[in-house]
Amino acid sequence: MNLTGQRVVVMGGSSGIGEAAAKRFAVDGAEVVVTGRDQARLDAAVERIGGKTTGYRLDGADSAQVAAFFAGAGTVDHLVLALSGSAGSGAFAELDLDHLAAGFDGKFWPYLRILQAALPTLRRDGSVTMVTAASARAAYAGSSGLAAINGALQAMVPPLAVELAPLRVNAVSPGVVDTPWWDRVPEAARTEFFEGLAATTPVGRVGHADEIGDAIRMVAGNGFISGVVLDVTGGANLATGR
Ligand SMILES: NC(=O)c1ccc[n+]([C@@H]2O[C@H](COP(=O)([O-])OP(=O)(O)OC[C@H]3O[C@@H](n4cnc5c(N)ncnc54)[C@H](OP(=O)(O)O)[C@@H]3O)[C@@H](O)[C@H]2O)c1
Repeated sequence: MNLTGQRVVVMGGSSGIGEAAAKRFAVDGAEVVVTGRDQARLDAAVERIGGKTTGYRLDGADSAQVAAFFAGAGTVDHLVLALSGSAGSGAFAELDLDHLAAGFDGKFWPYLRILQAALPTLRRDGSVTMVTAASARAAYAGSSGLAAINGALQAMVPPLAVELAPLRVNAVSPGVVDTPWWDRVPEAARTEFFEGLAATTPVGRVGHADEIGDAIRMVAGNGFISGVVLDVTGGANLATGR
């Protein structure tokens, strides 16, 4: 489907998965707005994405900034929520619950706040796609906190798809994907982690941002997909019976 004349907002579109999704929408002719907190990162992403793309600096955790953005946004056909929280992982016995609360503040609450603020501007039969995480449904040790954050978002997808219809509401749930999010992990440790995961993942590797971007583009553009949580994990979340 060509998206010429359609407007797409990618919250958290200046890096990684959000940027890859923005690129797919832009290639298909959409007018894309990418958001993020850092102006230099936004400018660089807009340059890389190309097409009819603009950047808008905002902190998705700040209600006033989010409201101001949507007040001037005009009609939005498709909204993608791809902000990255980072807090909340770790073994449960030692998990700092204040840290987990910060994880909710960095992802769960901003997603909800942005979606509420966006509703008056979203095209009636447009789409919302949340980027969640495979930790919500896979049983990874050390990820119960991330499972709580992403599982809470995924639990909301079916009721929202019914309540907000004909707006379509979906989630794309990635496995581990090699994005700048992982730059915070020292390179040697990151490589070891990725190689370990690759060995236990059916496709034998971690994901690329483009692969998640393709899935987001597909889910947003397909007018018959609603209420779905799509796992894009290379099979990493499949039950093995072990
Ligand atoms: N990478 C993975 O392995 C993986 C796996 C499963 C799920 N996910 C999920 O995928 C989503 C995207 O992750 P990613 O790997 O693409 O991360 P990333 O490369 O770090 O990109 C995150 C984007 O979100 C923006 N952002 C973060 N906090 C923000 C805030 N408060 N307000 C506005 N923008 C904000 C960042 O820009 P600024 O920092 O400049 O604001 C950046 O554009 C996240 O929800 C993550 O949990 C990722």
